[in-house]
Amino acid sequence: MLKNFWYAVEFGHAVDRRPRKVTCLGQDFVIWRRRDGRVACLSDLCVHRGGALSMGTLAGDSIACPYHGWEYEPDGRCVKIPANPPGRGIPLKARVDAYPVVERYGMVWAFLGDLPEEERPPIPHIPQHEDPAFRAVYWETTVDANYERTLENVVDAAHTPFVHGTAFGNPDRPEIPDYEITGDDWHAEADILLSPPLPKGLWGALARRRPRAEHVVVSNGWYLPNIVKLHVRLPFGDLVLYDYNIPLGQDRTLVKIVGYRNFFTGKWADGNAVKRIGKIFEQDRPVVENQRPELLPFDLSAELHIRSDALQVAYRRRRRQLMDRGWWVGGDDIVTGDVPRREATVIPS
Ligand code: FES
Ligand code: CO
Repeated sequence: MLKNFWYAVEFGHAVDRRPRKVTCLGQDFVIWRRRDGRVACLSDLCVHRGGALSMGTLAGDSIACPYHGWEYEPDGRCVKIPANPPGRGIPLKARVDAYPVVERYGMVWAFLGDLPEEERPPIPHIPQHEDPAFRAVYWETTVDANYERTLENVVDAAHTPFVHGTAFGNPDRPEIPDYEITGDDWHAEADILLSPPLPKGLWGALARRRPRAEHVVVSNGWYLPNIVKLHVRLPFGDLVLYDYNIPLGQDRTLVKIVGYRNFFTGKWADGNAVKRIGKIFEQDRPVVENQRPELLPFDLSAELHIRSDALQVAYRRRRRQLMDRGWWVGGDDIVTGDVPRREATVIPS
């Protein structure tokens, strides 16, 4: 798993004045909304006896541990130890790791790593979130698979005729025309021509009566560390899915999907949009949960690649470089927060 990135750990709308546990890179964190609307993120582990702060209560902007009531500020400092008689000081070591937080594009992002602000990789730009022509739906599930397997699955256009043959894949047109990759150090994407099947029933009959583009262009790409964008350019509008593959641990992934569409933008169509995302994902689930080895190989030559896998190969190359740079954490490695800590590690959105 890659450290030194901003990780979207929760939907913004799910974070309120109640402490909430989130997990990423195999570590637990507690997040909560402060009185001024900003979000705080601390390690969920109380330094006293390991109580889970996420089971605690808020006192103003501080969080009180459920076990002995120690209170921590959003910057991680302990400011109250109830068992101490009045006048006794707070030990300097009484603090937990605090993580920088930004709320953007409907997500709460925590920086998990040890880079100073100016060296941190960017949060991807999601223009649809600010475009009033688009409407968003939010969906999530957990998967018993490694996050890089689930990420590559969404980048992979060639699986659709086989895994999604009953949804949008076309078993009669499985070939993927060569595509060109654009991008930078943190992102790669390509326009891929797909040939989806004609719709069935009345819609199909209508579609057959007028000249119709044979192909649908899908702009598909990844953003490090764990996001896939799938922009499907349909004849009647755009469907843009952002798929966040959050590594709960090495073999378990929280998949959050935000689906933007600029057609059928009424609330009435939300249920259908969500249902469709869920249905398609359930077709992927058994495949990714049974891939072996569970973890994406570190060695580029460990699996066989063909031309249409170029986007995934680009991902594996880039991740290999960052691994060599020491950004890889796995197993029991701990991602340290801002140490030495700066004042106010919570950045306003
Ligand atoms: Fe948290 Fe004792 S374990 S206050
Ligand atoms: Co799929």
